Amino acid sequence: MKAPITLLGLAGILVFGVTASLTLLPAQAASVAPSPEAQLERGRYLVLRTGLCTDCHSPRNERGELIESRQLMGAPIPFAPTVPMPWMPVAPRLAGLPAGFNEEQMIHFLMTGERPNGRGQPLPPMPPFRFDHDDATAIAAFLRSLPAK
Ligand code: HEC
Repeated sequence: MKAPITLLGLAGILVFGVTASLTLLPAQAASVAPSPEAQLERGRYLVLRTGLCTDCHSPRNERGELIESRQLMGAPIPFAPTVPMPWMPVAPRLAGLPAGFNEEQMIHFLMTGERPNGRGQPLPPMPPFRFDHDDATAIAAFLRSLPAK
């Protein structure tokens, strides 16, 4: 008579364990959501170290060096294509988010390339980035945090 009870007990523990871990999963997922600071740091990394948005969107001095105090304030593109192709020789301001973009529209743009108000995709040399939602959200948060002047 002892064995069946023990087996039942074991089964009970198993069922409890599986149910508990299933119930806990969503809570764990929520608890790993990045803090605002971690998200800004991620955005800074993606913009300054990976996407190199500054290469085109930051102005340079007469020696071609980036002007630190004017980071991401918009700039003429410092190079040109060697064959005829669609081309936009100016990159707009990104600091504080570009004119006509709210944070939601910026996230959508970074994931799809679609600009708000039916303006379609930007021309080269803007690269056709397709970030995932978390990265797009971090980039939009970082750009919004930068002073627009
Ligand atoms: C190689 C140059 C280059 C790089 C690198 C670059 N951009 Fe651009 N970007 C441009 C140019 C040029 C335009 C303007 C295109 C147009 O108007 O058709 C543009 C347009 C944009 C626009 C649309 C703005 C508007 O008002 O329509 C956004 C947003 C943008 N870039 C964000 C970024 C971000 C974020 C990064 C980095 C992850 C980045 N860009 C990297 C050249 C670049």
